[in-house]
Amino acid sequence: MSLLAVDGVSKAFGSLQVLSDVSFEVQPGQRHVIIGPNGAGKTTVFKCITGLLPVDSGSIAIDGTDVTGLPAHSRVSLGLACTFQKTNLFGELTVEENLHLAVTARKPYRFRIWKPLSWHEDLHRETRELLEEWGLWSLRERRVGELSYGEQRMLEIVLALASRPRILLLDEPTSGMSPAETSRAASLIKNLPRSVALLIIEHDMDVVFSVAEHITVLHHGEVFLSGSPERVRGDERVREIYFSGGARPHA
Ligand SMILES: Nc1ncnc2c1ncn2[C@@H]1O[C@H](COP(=O)(O)OP(=O)(O)O)[C@@H](O)[C@H]1O
Ligand SMILES: [Mg+2]
Repeated sequence: MSLLAVDGVSKAFGSLQVLSDVSFEVQPGQRHVIIGPNGAGKTTVFKCITGLLPVDSGSIAIDGTDVTGLPAHSRVSLGLACTFQKTNLFGELTVEENLHLAVTARKPYRFRIWKPLSWHEDLHRETRELLEEWGLWSLRERRVGELSYGEQRMLEIVLALASRPRILLLDEPTSGMSPAETSRAASLIKNLPRSVALLIIEHDMDVVFSVAEHITVLHHGEVFLSGSPERVRGDERVREIYFSGGARPHA
């Protein structure tokens, strides 16, 4: 069974039909990338998947559970996480404190006054493990508000991982990053554990073709093509609609 199934989803804003009968699936552990020109409807698909926007028709299922009418938090408890909400970061707190909060939010006992001592120790250990694992150790005492844009976006990804999601949605994780930050982010993304499937909207073709196992091309709110990177790279029509803007995939 697929981990995420988007089935026949349509969405309009007033008279503007933004998504028309969009269907695709994400398998457990899969690296699935969505590409398409600006305004194609990519972010809108993400908002429908997370529950930020209701669909007009069609359905969305997570691990076989139909979540179409369920609120966002129910989808999170089924294993969905995403990073387009910048509100997760507290600029006045340090990197370690931000991560500690995210780890704490996931654990049981958080609403109890009396907590076992081991609970606090476990949280600290896990926070430090995540800092080391994702290359944030040297930044742990820095205030988040002082980090570079790229460092903040990397921290958002690590915060999203603290909820131990089974599927992580990343909306243009490298946008606004310098080339050096982009390649660091790409390697962080590539090293994410297979226990989490990735659905990524990305415009940087180097990142797309270094990460993707499956690519879905959106165009005018429709799935234009969904297939292997080789198939997408070799498709003349995709080149015409998408790569003619100058962004060409590597041969
Ligand atoms: N809340 C909204 N109200 C009206 N139009 C919207 C809204 N959100 C997005 N749109 C429009 O929907 C289209 C698709 O937007 P979006 O999903 O953000 O595209 P992409 O992420 O592929 O660039 C665009 O024409 C955009 O202007
Ligand atoms: Mg977008």
